[in-house]
Amino acid sequence: MKKIAVLGTGYVGLVSGTCFAEIGNQVICCDIDEGKILRLQQGEIPIYEPGLEDMVKKNQQEKRLSFTSDIPKAIQESEIIYLAVGTPMSESGEADLSYVKAAAKTIGQQLNSYKIIVNKSTVPVGTGKLVKSIIKEHVQDSCVDFDVVSNPEFLREGSALEDCMNMERAVIGADNDQAGQIIADLHEPFHTTIFRTDIESAEMIKYAANAFLATKISFINDIANICERVGADVTHVAEGMGMDSRIGSKFLQAGIGYGGSCFPKDTQALVHIAQEVGYDLKLVQSVIQTNEQQKYAVVHKAKEIMGDVNGKTIAVLGLAFKPNTDDIRYAPSLTVIPELIKAGANVKAFDPIAIPATQQEFSMKLSQEQQQNIAYSTDLYGVLEGSDACLILTEWQEVLQLDLEQAKSKLKVPLIIDGRNCFSLEMMLEKGFTYHSIGRPAVDRLRIPV
Ligand code: UDX
Repeated sequence: MKKIAVLGTGYVGLVSGTCFAEIGNQVICCDIDEGKILRLQQGEIPIYEPGLEDMVKKNQQEKRLSFTSDIPKAIQESEIIYLAVGTPMSESGEADLSYVKAAAKTIGQQLNSYKIIVNKSTVPVGTGKLVKSIIKEHVQDSCVDFDVVSNPEFLREGSALEDCMNMERAVIGADNDQAGQIIADLHEPFHTTIFRTDIESAEMIKYAANAFLATKISFINDIANICERVGADVTHVAEGMGMDSRIGSKFLQAGIGYGGSCFPKDTQALVHIAQEVGYDLKLVQSVIQTNEQQKYAVVHKAKEIMGDVNGKTIAVLGLAFKPNTDDIRYAPSLTVIPELIKAGANVKAFDPIAIPATQQEFSMKLSQEQQQNIAYSTDLYGVLEGSDACLILTEWQEVLQLDLEQAKSKLKVPLIIDGRNCFSLEMMLEKGFTYHSIGRPAVDRLRIPV
């Protein structure tokens, strides 16, 4: 059992802190946001993540997990301090390290005994060294020692608890072997593969892994766009490609592009890191560009198919960047919906949980008049009622299980534009829809005889 303080109760901090408590450690999660801490103390979870609320409550009741805004005290009482503060993207695409620097300063000021400071925030290469120097600068008692370790996070939103409890690997970057071993031992109950390396390489692994996954997505989206033009089916192409174990079948689902808190931010940050050292990272730049274009491609597709969207009502299914989360950061819906509105369409938007976040985002981004052209509902079939087309942006379970007969009876025109390839072409043909998806032949009931 270790005494762990986790600084930052965002996604990563909250999930990792809870999982460390679950495996038997004494964890105290800290944040400067007192209101958030107060809500957490009362069992109110600020993010939607399946299973998290129950696991937090259980560990709170069993006295392994607590929350505080008294960060100095939490630091003083802990042996291991996890840094899980935000590193948002700055205007230039660079990771903003102000929260990391502030946390390092506080740790330095409060360092009263040997501690290991572990970085879980996604930070540019070299931040481990920077954290070390900031702490050193602020320690009061120069006899007190500490070590800095990098332990990047690979959680996926929507399955974060499962990813954490059954992690595929734990990357541990340390210059001091003993400190690295303590963090490796901490991961023992997760029964995972431990990969030990130096701090810089660990920091780089996180960016390289996310940029590679983003590359796979943009690559298959590019292939999908060609497939549409040559009459091939990208799902077959991906399946055939994926059978080569060197390529692998995962992350080859064509769609309307990646979003979320990691890929957009981390790809930009990697390009920036490369620039800083005088390297022009063209490949990742083009991955980012393809991803941007892909969001607009679905709007062009809608305009092309519908002739003109002006005055038309479009049912948009899904606002979150992926299912099982209320996270809308860099979600394709944030680009697609304003584009449709600007083209004169009315949007009826469905999402089971991401409506409040989207409304808040659009209240800052769109004019009053534009906002009035969007109606929100958690009633899927209500959104389809009387709409001229259905546009799928997130593959929520409700959407995958759509009752197509009912959907057809609700829609004014049986037209589905599917940005997530949710349905088989055969099914859509059989049910009599005009169906346009990504990288697959269109099913046009007017042209293809049933
Ligand atoms: C990702 C990484 O998977 C995780 O390891 C990292 O630590 C954080 O970033 P997350 O953003 O939660 O996790 O979601 P993920 O499931 O990876 O999906 C990211 C985006 O890619 C989503 O918008 C998703 O729709 C898209 N995607 C994913 C595709 O378009 N096609 C695919 O084949 C896979």
